Amino acid sequence: MDSIFHRISVRKYEVKMVEKEKILQILKAGMQAPSACNQQPWEFYVVTDREKIRELSGVSPYSGCAAGAPVVIVPVYRKHGLIAPEYAQIDLSIAQENIWLETDALGLGGVWFGIAPDRKRMDAVHQVLDLPEDVEVFSMFALGYPAESRPQQNRYDESRIHFVE
Ligand SMILES: Cc1cc2nc3c(=O)[nH]c(=O)nc-3n(C[C@H](O)[C@H](O)[C@H](O)COP(=O)(O)O)c2cc1C
Repeated sequence: MDSIFHRISVRKYEVKMVEKEKILQILKAGMQAPSACNQQPWEFYVVTDREKIRELSGVSPYSGCAAGAPVVIVPVYRKHGLIAPEYAQIDLSIAQENIWLETDALGLGGVWFGIAPDRKRMDAVHQVLDLPEDVEVFSMFALGYPAESRPQQNRYDESRIHFVE
């Protein structure tokens, strides 16, 4: 299966916990992401506590469906000691996409919730999880066994390709 051409946003999940080995495999994929100067600015919080997940589902107007997920991964980045701090959110974006693709490859489904760069959402997640002061929240990713499926939308548009020859 080629997850690039299969992955979709999955917002409904079966009531079934995701095995720890699968969660670790997903995070392994996240940590294989390239990063500016190879700085690997990430840390990952894996939330399975029902009450915390319920609180996280309320941090943005678009994260309500997280409440039904068995797992929410919260990728964060370190604020200090980075070689190229201005690239931290870009680095995390690549890690987040790897996480999404590996989730799909394992037969699971998930959805990325936009948190950074919205200061209020970043602070809200930080507060819910009582995170250390020296990290910033990048995103949230709800995942589980999918309770919905659909074909991926075809977004290929040749008119967006510009050869300079
Ligand atoms: C940076 C980013 C932020 C997103 N934030 C949300 C969100 O807050 N809530 C949500 O339900 N989906 C969110 N999504 C999912 C997009 O809505 C979804 O990827 C897009 O509609 C394309 O659909 P597909 O993922 O099924 O291909 C986000 C996706 C990205 C890449």
